[in-house]
Amino acid sequence: MSIEYFLYKGVNFAPGIHFEENLNFAENEFQVLDDDVFNVTYPKSGTNWMLEILNLIKCQGDPTWCNSVPNWERSPWYETRDGQSQIKDVLSPRVLCSHLPFHIFSKSFFTSKAKIIYTMRNPKDVFVSLFYFAKILSLYNNTENFQLFLENFLQGDVLYGTWFDHVKGWMQMKDNRNVFFITYEELQQDLRGSVVKICEFLGKELDDAAIDLVVKHSSFQSMKENKMSNYSLLPQEMLNHKKGSWFRKGISGDWKNHFTVAQSEYFDRVYQEKMKDLNMKFFWEK
Ligand code: A3P
Repeated sequence: MSIEYFLYKGVNFAPGIHFEENLNFAENEFQVLDDDVFNVTYPKSGTNWMLEILNLIKCQGDPTWCNSVPNWERSPWYETRDGQSQIKDVLSPRVLCSHLPFHIFSKSFFTSKAKIIYTMRNPKDVFVSLFYFAKILSLYNNTENFQLFLENFLQGDVLYGTWFDHVKGWMQMKDNRNVFFITYEELQQDLRGSVVKICEFLGKELDDAAIDLVVKHSSFQSMKENKMSNYSLLPQEMLNHKKGSWFRKGISGDWKNHFTVAQSEYFDRVYQEKMKDLNMKFFWEK
């Protein structure tokens, strides 16, 4: 994939987006507020979908804010330099995004009453989504070789390290009542029911009409058409809009259209080996 990563606490980060001092700030100095809500994911797991849902819940389903302010200003990535400079303009209760692994997450979270929503996705679909994303994000180059990229992904030679470590790390919080776990597949299967559960977790009371609005404005089509959410405002040098879109297919199971039987079996073997200690069944395994 030829990104010249740098390591911070054993995890790959991208120069130009990430800087050691900002990672250190996020981990050790960032002051989490009691009413903060963190949208945490491994990349390509539905981060922007959850961001939109949380922003719409914050506005009782009213889409005006989501339709007028870019998503990265509404909910900055708190570990990046840009994100940290944008946070000062975010009104509480803040919804902040992060791809940080558990062991680097803000120390101050653990003494706060803040909440985290951790969204996971079938890693085979995460991989396919990342494979296409790498083709449009200028950060990556030399992204044509599916098999090679698959090896990189399984070995963790990608941004933010391995999916396995990310999920296993965050699973240490599974009994913490301030952390809510959900999957992309559950959002797909029952968006309305998922929104209701998220509202319950956040202690937000939305009436049926407001929930309907959240569901409507966080649909794939609605977000794909919203230029404040679809990243079409990013300059061409950063995201090659001619080659594809951040909002690619928005489905579950697209890996079946891409993996050979041998690749799928190989993935399953690595998955079983890496996840065996966890002793958990994820939604996509059922
Ligand atoms: P695909 O590439 O499989 O289409 P992230 O936001 O973490 O970068 O994840 C991007 C993935 O989430 C993309 O997957 C994108 O299409 C999908 N996605 C974003 N919003 C969605 C929505 N409202 N409904 C379904 N999928 C969505």
